[in-house]
Amino acid sequence: MNLDRDLVSPEPEGDERAIEAALRPKRLAEFIGQARVREQLSLVLESALRRNRPPDHVLMSGGPGLGKTTLAMIIAAELGAPLRMTSGPALERAGDLAAILSTLAEGEVLFIDEIHRMARPAEEMLYLAMEDFRVDIIVGKGPGATSIPLDIAPFTLVGATTRAGLLPAPLRDRFGFTAHMDFYEAAELEQVLYRSARLMSVDLPADGAWEIARRSRGTPRIANRLLRRVRDFAEVRAEGVVTREVAATALDLYEVDAEGLDRLDRAVLGVLLRRFGGGPVGLSTLAVAVGEEPETVEVVAEPFLVRQGLLARTPRGRVATAAAWTHLGLTPPPDAFGAAAVATLFDDT
Ligand SMILES: Nc1ncnc2c1ncn2[C@@H]1O[C@H](COP(=O)(O)OP(=O)(O)OP(=O)(O)O)[C@@H](O)[C@H]1O
Ligand SMILES: [Mg+2]
Repeated sequence: MNLDRDLVSPEPEGDERAIEAALRPKRLAEFIGQARVREQLSLVLESALRRNRPPDHVLMSGGPGLGKTTLAMIIAAELGAPLRMTSGPALERAGDLAAILSTLAEGEVLFIDEIHRMARPAEEMLYLAMEDFRVDIIVGKGPGATSIPLDIAPFTLVGATTRAGLLPAPLRDRFGFTAHMDFYEAAELEQVLYRSARLMSVDLPADGAWEIARRSRGTPRIANRLLRRVRDFAEVRAEGVVTREVAATALDLYEVDAEGLDRLDRAVLGVLLRRFGGGPVGLSTLAVAVGEEPETVEVVAEPFLVRQGLLARTPRGRVATAAAWTHLGLTPPPDAFGAAAVATLFDDT
């Protein structure tokens, strides 16, 4: 099954990065939602500014599209520091990382996206750099190899990961502050939408904003994307005004359902209910059945389904709740799990 999940995928699509750059909040005060993270981070940054020292290294964990890259850029902006951006997969050899670390300016912010995908040798080099602002450059091979210690400028590492569980403990422990990014409330996404609509000069009344917000899968990236699609629809069919009716009609057309479930979400639930009688079924079996990588199902689909009370991760496998049967228009069997029961008895997330 090849799922066309462009519209509600939390991953950025084709030319979306450029559009996103224009909509990105630039300062902490403009960043909507994630109140706790914002407050903790502002303390970390302010005290660093007062002491005139680079702040502790910051780890941001959370699903795609929740604002990790945005926050990394904000951290540099708030510190008035330059920002260097790279990603785990780009750091294949220790030398790749050494080249970056040795040219950092004092106080620079180094952003490593997908930090859980960094290669082992680079990771070990990073431990020392984070802790002692030092790297050991190995020259030569075999018994004749020597290591030359090299001091590097004090810097702040900002790491982002969608899978904090995959980070080795020694790396995780070297971050002074971890920001857990969670799904946004619909009311917060409404604010994101108003802000974007203003920047895009879209006429977005309150009822239209609400309709889009509640179908946005708790994710700002998706909210912004749905706004663009609904705007297109409104321009052609409704003189540009995004009312609730216009938003609902457009989103139905684009197959975003009333709870914001996308095709992968519905495919996962569909397979779980129709083929496995509601579970429990293992992650890899489920992934094969919907034709996706287990990681995609685990990182992209499941957290949202769990949050909506439609699916639970239990020690024996994935289980659909009674609400999931109802959502797909099916009758739950008498022994189907209620969301509350699953949460208390089985949920290990
Ligand atoms: N709190 C927020 N307020 C306003 N807009 C936001 C917020 N968080 C994210 N956005 C918007 O959502 C888009 C995606 O955010 P961002 O690129 O930071 O996500 P991410 O967590 O880095 O995703 P990925 O895991 O795919 O790298 C950005 O263009 C930004 O405009
Ligand atoms: Mg990002």
